[in-house]
Amino acid sequence: MSLFQVYPLQPIAITKALGSHVWDDKGTEYLDMYGGHAVISIGHTHPHWVKRIEDQLHKMAFYSNSVIMPIQEELAAALNKISSKQDYQLFLCNSGAEANENALKLASFHTGRKKIISFSKAFHGRTSLAVAATDNPSIIAPVNETDNIIFLPFNDVEALTQCFAKQGDEIAGIIIEGIQGVAGIYEATTIFLQTIRALCDKHGAVYIADSVQCGYGRSGKFFAHDYAGVNADIYSMAKGMGNGFPIGGILIAPHIQPKFGLLGTTFGGNPLACAAALAVIEVMEKENLIEAAIQKGKYLIEALQNTKGVKAVRGNGLMIGFEMEAGLESIRQVLLNDFKIFTGEAKPNIVRLLPSLAISMEEIDLFLNKLNEAVQQLKQTPA
Ligand SMILES: Cc1ncc(COP(=O)(O)O)c(C=O)c1O
Repeated sequence: MSLFQVYPLQPIAITKALGSHVWDDKGTEYLDMYGGHAVISIGHTHPHWVKRIEDQLHKMAFYSNSVIMPIQEELAAALNKISSKQDYQLFLCNSGAEANENALKLASFHTGRKKIISFSKAFHGRTSLAVAATDNPSIIAPVNETDNIIFLPFNDVEALTQCFAKQGDEIAGIIIEGIQGVAGIYEATTIFLQTIRALCDKHGAVYIADSVQCGYGRSGKFFAHDYAGVNADIYSMAKGMGNGFPIGGILIAPHIQPKFGLLGTTFGGNPLACAAALAVIEVMEKENLIEAAIQKGKYLIEALQNTKGVKAVRGNGLMIGFEMEAGLESIRQVLLNDFKIFTGEAKPNIVRLLPSLAISMEEIDLFLNKLNEAVQQLKQTPA
């Protein structure tokens, strides 16, 4: 049987990973500035993470959500503390799309309304409502098309205010990334997020902070949306939450009441996933990784701004995007093929850096040196 070919693949088979490095099946070592797409938060195969999962595996791998799961409660308490969302409730699932799908459903259940506001270039996942709220018609199947999603321009306070003035009583919720990832690293402005908070309060709508990529400390705060100084009603999380073990979840404000049967899942919140997520939080706290993300991000952004050939740099913490000058568009492929460095991309020509929050300064310097060399190499290559 062949694999269903939906990914354009690099011809590299990764067989080993540690910290910010991975190795292929031929023993070639790579520096990972991509984190498997923002997933690796505390470093590949961190020993505490491995042990936590291993210990849990020996105790009990799975039972359904029909019984009390103390490890879920432990995770909820740890999340309350690290996120500073003290009295929020936790619903666990398995991925980012599922987290957003549940968040959107919950907004609709809670308000009894149907309309969701999303923004230009947004990416929220590939399940039915999450993909409908994603601004990319090429991945929306005909069956997922709906009139219930209203797309507005990102960071446009006026357009948002006008939309609420016109149909505020129909809006169930607003979904927004604190830093748009797939779009190419664009930050939501403070005034925009504060306006969302104010309009949701005024019209009884639910503010959903999609923190799947920009959350979990990557921006230098636990949620990138926190930079605006206002709380969302629901935060969706995944990626960095399990450091590679599949887990997602939503944090839900206390005024949104649960009801039996409202949401549900077979695998969500399974003990192995909870053990992985607890290990991530424990390492983040012990190694001060959120604080480190601010410092390392500042250093990296400043260095990129002073790198020849780089024309624009955006981002916060260790969620960074940069664009190269004309003629240097193939930088990612050169970094990978000739310098053995993985980076991420956003179309058409944005390089995304989403490394582990535990990346060392030496590894950052190694990346910057190799980037400089790659730029020089490209400049010397005849067009
Ligand atoms: C902001 C955002 N939301 C949701 C998702 C979907 O997450 P998943 O691929 O885990 O379903 C992604 C994935 O890239 C994302 O970046």
